[in-house]
Amino acid sequence: MEIITSKAALTERVNELIASKKNIGFVPTMGALHNGHLQLVKRCVSENDVCIVSVFVNPTQFNDKHDLEVYPRNIEADAAKLESVGCAIVFTPTPDEMYTKEEQEKVFEFDFAGLDKVMEGKFRPGHFNGVVQVVSKLFTLVRPTRAYFGEKDFQQLAIIRRMVDVMGFEIEIVGCPIVREESGLALSSRNALLSEEERKTAAHIHAVLKESVQFLSQTSLEELRNAVVNAIDAKEGLRTEYFSIVDGKSLRELDNWNQSEDIVGCITVFCGKVRLIDNIRYK
Ligand code: PAJ
Repeated sequence: MEIITSKAALTERVNELIASKKNIGFVPTMGALHNGHLQLVKRCVSENDVCIVSVFVNPTQFNDKHDLEVYPRNIEADAAKLESVGCAIVFTPTPDEMYTKEEQEKVFEFDFAGLDKVMEGKFRPGHFNGVVQVVSKLFTLVRPTRAYFGEKDFQQLAIIRRMVDVMGFEIEIVGCPIVREESGLALSSRNALLSEEERKTAAHIHAVLKESVQFLSQTSLEELRNAVVNAIDAKEGLRTEYFSIVDGKSLRELDNWNQSEDIVGCITVFCGKVRLIDNIRYK
């Protein structure tokens, strides 16, 4: 496995691969890799000639500087995990390598057609501009045939699909199911910031969401929404930031179950100081 840190060296390798007609699969990450990331990488390895993974904690998508500072980083451990699942190239640039000074100072703006006005976009202003900024730059450098994203970040996946349409990238976006711990807690790099006790408490989030699915036919959308928030907030140590039940494509908030055939509930919960996200499919 090769570890590449400069854009120039990556471009050289990508040019060679494309000249020899290899198709490239790509998994962008921010490192602190867990089994959720590795499932994306394994699928990428199995479906493409060459798998490239980026490990880059992207400063422009953090609206909270403290969050950026404490974000877990461990490139040696990440490289060992990636090698064990057959990744061919890891791209791990510094922020100064990735961005010009101007790009770091000027806010990048993308027209999201409203996809960024709800949920994560509302509570983390500027977050998705940073995500689109880095993913579009990475796509231009890596030139993949396919790129893999987790359904755990449901809104991110919808936004990346729109970005590909609007910017005209000829890249197949592959959405991959959420990988969970045995307790049901969705794997996340942020789980490393939870204490043992908090980890147990956090498992409650998925338990409540999963249970709520069975009330679908007998409860109005608003009642179910309130019941989920109340059940989560009743657990000591958990506080819901938002729980939005939305159309899976437009991410428009719904107020009754007949408004769409593609319905997903997206939640953000603070467990102590750690912000966790998860979602559940209702239809
Ligand atoms: P990161 O949080 O490292 O996640 C990288 C990819 O792994 C994302 O597509 C995410 O949805 C997926 N992923 C994380 N946990 C998962 C789980 N439990 N099950 C399935 N997939 C999971 O998302 C980002 O990084 C960044 O925003 C990035 C796209 C790299 C841009 O900086």
